[in-house]
Amino acid sequence: MGDVRVPGDKSISHRAVMLGAIAEGVTRVDGFLQAQDALATLKAFRSMGVKIENTKGGQIIVHGVGLHGLSAPNQPLDFGNSGTAMRLMAGLLSGQSFDSLLIGDRSLSKRPMLRITDPLKRMGAAIDTEPSGTAPISIRGNSHLSAIEYTMPVASAQIKSCLLLAAMYAKGSTCIIEPAPSRDHTERMLNGMAYPVRVEGNQISTSNGGKLIATNIDIPADISSAAFFIVGASISEGSDIILRHVGINPTRAGLIDILRMMGASIEMFDRCDVGGEPVADIRVKSAKLRGVRIPEYLVPSAIDEFPVLFVAAACADGETLLTGASELRVKESDRIDVMAKGLQRLGVDACSLDDGIRIRGGSISGGCIDSHGDHRIAMSFATAALVATDAVEIIDCNNVDTSFPDFIGMAQNLGLKIESLKVSER
Ligand code: S3P
Repeated sequence: MGDVRVPGDKSISHRAVMLGAIAEGVTRVDGFLQAQDALATLKAFRSMGVKIENTKGGQIIVHGVGLHGLSAPNQPLDFGNSGTAMRLMAGLLSGQSFDSLLIGDRSLSKRPMLRITDPLKRMGAAIDTEPSGTAPISIRGNSHLSAIEYTMPVASAQIKSCLLLAAMYAKGSTCIIEPAPSRDHTERMLNGMAYPVRVEGNQISTSNGGKLIATNIDIPADISSAAFFIVGASISEGSDIILRHVGINPTRAGLIDILRMMGASIEMFDRCDVGGEPVADIRVKSAKLRGVRIPEYLVPSAIDEFPVLFVAAACADGETLLTGASELRVKESDRIDVMAKGLQRLGVDACSLDDGIRIRGGSISGGCIDSHGDHRIAMSFATAALVATDAVEIIDCNNVDTSFPDFIGMAQNLGLKIESLKVSER
């Protein structure tokens, strides 16, 4: 039986460094995701004068400088491929006394930023994007922020967290209203660091004037990385695997609910609470899946898992229909189009819709897939290869390192026949 622990949760890793850096005292972080996205956040704080040790054992030790202890970086802050880093940091940096410039890679520089700069401007931030509403983002320091009440147009933890970080520097009580629950790691971690945040139904509020007390953080394995193996085991005959210490925060666990609706065999045991985040071991056995209409209320809690869920749908009996998920079009790639085209290339009946996709299950053939530099697309098609009738070649997949550096090694341990080729070897 395969038995693995996938790397640490990406969302929580970013937040551990950000909140640890502006806390008072030393925050020790176990299970930190040693991958490009989270390391970009770490590097940004180092360039703002925060001492952060990255020990041989993989523990991160953040020497917090307090809410007002950051210093001006002497170069642009490069967040690479990471939307979470750029959007959350824009909130935090809007409250500083120094100027900053936030840049990213080609994919990140195409992603919408007005969703954060508009509400930040309403708080009084001096923040600008390119005319296209995209990065680079420039922020002028010393703007005196004031609290706002803000109804978010989309259920987005990045917008919510950006505004919560800005709210710690804004005079008064900021109230954010969510159209649907999005991941709540920021609220949980702020609570764990004794910063007062109130959550009442779909309203989250916080004020300036508090302080963060450093604490130890144990980051669970990332359910978004486990997802590839959960689907992989479900679709390949005779599988039976255990994934250890996986974060199963209900705002993240929509994948499990959807797969169970499809008939998957997923069992959770040894449930516990680790620093305010629910964690469990997950046992997955192969099962006959059936197509479903995915309820729209589950979309935010499975938002990053749809590429691999589409692979599950391609292996299921009957039709799967997803709607209400237009956010997928503004992720690291347009995940509706890129997945629909890739699945079609592998002989699957997949049809993209404005806000979702329709997939009729059947068999998956081999072929060459362009992942468009999107880590989750690359790993989803590697998962599809488990059941494909011929080899699947995936190109432009270096970005797997942004979230899951040892994906290939772990997949091989679990029995996937996968190898990595340099461009020159192809
Ligand atoms: C994230 C929130 C989600 C998710 C992203 C990580 C976070 O984005 O897709 O991978 O850590 O807050 P949105 O807030 O845009 O939905």
